[in-house]
Amino acid sequence: MDRALELNLIEELLGLREAKTHFLDQAIEFNSVDHYQSEIIFNEERESIFTRLPAVAAHVCEIPNPSDFVKREVAGRSIIVTRDAEGKARAFLNVCRHRGTQLVSEESGCKHRFTCPYHAWTYANSGELVSAPHLESGFPGLDKAQYSLKALQCDERFGFIWVVANPEVTIDFEQYFAPIADEAEALDLADMAIAREEKKVHKSNWKILVEGGLESYHFKVAHRKTIGPYFEDNLSSYQMLGDHMRSVLMRSSMHTLKELPTSQWRLRDHANIIYTFFPTTQLLVQQDHVVWINSRPVSATETELRLVTLAPTSRLEDDTYWEKNHRITSNTLNEDFVIGESIQAGLATGANEQMTFGRFEGALPEFNRVVKRYTSA
Ligand code: FES
Ligand SMILES: [Fe+2]
Repeated sequence: MDRALELNLIEELLGLREAKTHFLDQAIEFNSVDHYQSEIIFNEERESIFTRLPAVAAHVCEIPNPSDFVKREVAGRSIIVTRDAEGKARAFLNVCRHRGTQLVSEESGCKHRFTCPYHAWTYANSGELVSAPHLESGFPGLDKAQYSLKALQCDERFGFIWVVANPEVTIDFEQYFAPIADEAEALDLADMAIAREEKKVHKSNWKILVEGGLESYHFKVAHRKTIGPYFEDNLSSYQMLGDHMRSVLMRSSMHTLKELPTSQWRLRDHANIIYTFFPTTQLLVQQDHVVWINSRPVSATETELRLVTLAPTSRLEDDTYWEKNHRITSNTLNEDFVIGESIQAGLATGANEQMTFGRFEGALPEFNRVVKRYTSA
């Protein structure tokens, strides 16, 4: 992060604390509860957002070498993410071009060829159909070049392998990530590895789960038994970075910086920084590691979350330390996820027609504006 920006972010929050106020937007805002329940809106989001924008399929440490692969689901599609002989990351729909069988059933492995379990059509890990039993007699004139695996746009960036789930769509990754790229790069995520992880389907709309990470209004209440005491009450700021967002949640320790020269001010030590990479990836930047939250929207009312503690590779062996850290993160975030399920159940009663966002919850309507820009909602 640019040093002047880092100091500005700290000064802004210190100023708000001193003035005993909050980071306030212009006005109270609303969002119809349909956006969290309607399968019609969800399907639109799937078509216009999840299949068309980059989603993280894997961290680079999950396929470090040529021929390593993982099977993933993105926007309801099973995909294979692998590295070809040159080490280039590639992604394909996990579908045999003969009659559609899923090629790979294992979650991960190392193979330079994928052979279909039905009639053994075999593909190179760069996608080409290399052989098929009795090809000449059974399929005279078939142009093998037309039968490569369906490739998805795939890009290695900030330590992650990003894919676009619709093979007909290509986007300009450079441009899409430009407003957040420098800060994402500075996190050195490629030099980190998975220390701990967990995965669970929550009965909650994906946006409710994202929204839970965008405000600190709830910290002193919902997190009173975990991290609440370490944070200022309802003091956080946010900035849009294109479709993405940076949120800065002020720790109670930040005010002690006033006794130190600004040369010693380090935002990361006195705030939680959350980067929301639109639409489904959030990074929670902690003092010495990063928590990666990957969301996989399943339906209007269900979302699978993968919660990963990424630790610097050089410190990965400190098992007890990462176990302890991951437990704290998991316990805290699960407080949010349980509330997310409670909100979803609450909306289903019909008690509320809209979500009501206070002026210090301005990041939530901003996030929803990005969603609506991609859909006709
Ligand atoms: S469906 Fe894959 S080889 Fe026939
Ligand atoms: Fe929370």
